[in-house]
Amino acid sequence: MPTNLVTSYNFDYRANNTGDNDKEYNMTYAAITGWGKCMPPATLSNDDLATFLETNDEWITTRTGMKERRISHVNVSELGAIACQHALAAAGKTALDVEMIVFASTSFDEYCPNAASNVQKIIGADNAACMDVNTACTGGMYAFTTANAMIKTGVVKSALVIGAETISKLMEWTNRDVAVLFGDGAAALYLEASEQETGLLAESLGCYGESRDILSVAGLGSKYANQGRMMGKTEWQFLGQEIFKKAVNGMAQACEKTLEKLGVNSEQIDLVVPHQANLRIIDTLAKKLKLDSDKVFVNIQKYANMSSATTLVAFVEAIEEQRVKPNSLILLPAFGGGLTWSAHAVRFGDRTTPIASSDASLPPCQQTGLEMVQEIMEKHQQSVGK
Ligand code: ACO
Repeated sequence: MPTNLVTSYNFDYRANNTGDNDKEYNMTYAAITGWGKCMPPATLSNDDLATFLETNDEWITTRTGMKERRISHVNVSELGAIACQHALAAAGKTALDVEMIVFASTSFDEYCPNAASNVQKIIGADNAACMDVNTACTGGMYAFTTANAMIKTGVVKSALVIGAETISKLMEWTNRDVAVLFGDGAAALYLEASEQETGLLAESLGCYGESRDILSVAGLGSKYANQGRMMGKTEWQFLGQEIFKKAVNGMAQACEKTLEKLGVNSEQIDLVVPHQANLRIIDTLAKKLKLDSDKVFVNIQKYANMSSATTLVAFVEAIEEQRVKPNSLILLPAFGGGLTWSAHAVRFGDRTTPIASSDASLPPCQQTGLEMVQEIMEKHQQSVGK
């Protein structure tokens, strides 16, 4: 039986409710008024991977749906900061309007101080409280829940939610089981307190903690400190088929619970934006939930799995590509290490176009994706020789 580690609010979010519960608890909603992403420019194709791994484009494409991924030349908080600048412009706000920054990642630049504080410093969000969240691939969604709950309960009136990853720096590049599956990128949402019934209306969160070891990364964390292992020189434990089954079951049950809480069925969902870990996982989930494939947003071919950034990047692209219409009801299922699972139901607002745009961008990148990966591999090799 799954361990339901996180329960949802005790409020009734049903679509046909009278709003009495929210009045009773003096709750507001948290509208999504800004969105942005930051994709590092260097790509690493399946053919690039085949230059140093026993793999090929045909295997990766048919087994996963992935064609290429991005490799970042900057650190993860810089990616997150640029995504935030785009989200703030889209909302027509400045950094000083932000009261909370919630930063989700599994590839933090450093563990102390946190990444959210670096975003605050880079963008000048001097009025914001700052916290990090790590639930692996569900991270962006758990960060969304955290910020939403803080706004709904009146702790803050606005928040930036970030999912950002530079997995390339921590990848075990000699292990083809995992090296082909991941990429780098970032996205951010800006949330604001609102009286309108909009934003995140219901979610379901949970974790298969008993199976946490089927997806683990040795070499990140204090337990490895006295094992003579270089921090960041990782070994990935990854039982792909077991994760596949748990991903489908975890996301399916999360979706069912969320739909039930909201009092709607899957046909009433306008768009599903799932975590992008494997196209076959997405297709299997869609069949299980009887979802039309044309209602499912997919961008895995461009970016592969960016862990905690994945679902937020897909959501932001769905908005940018006008797949999200005014007042669309959107379902966002996700799954990740832990093994954490989630599904969020969002009622989008009236406005699906940005108020303004930002010219914030990354510094130029002087290397190809393949060159950066080769450099990371060389550094890891040198550290082993020491
Ligand atoms: N290139 C070529 N061959 C490969 C590769 C590769 N990159 N990787 C594995 N193979 C081989 C295997 O060795 C095996 O060979 P064999 O038959 O001679 O033994 C064969 O391909 C089949 O391997 P399987 O593991 O059975 O392949 P499968 O169809 O299960 O696909 C995959 C593997 C893509 C990893 C799939 O299981 C999967 O996507 N799992 C879920 C991943 C996931 O959900 N990740 C998200 C969470 S990550 C996070 O939270 C941080």
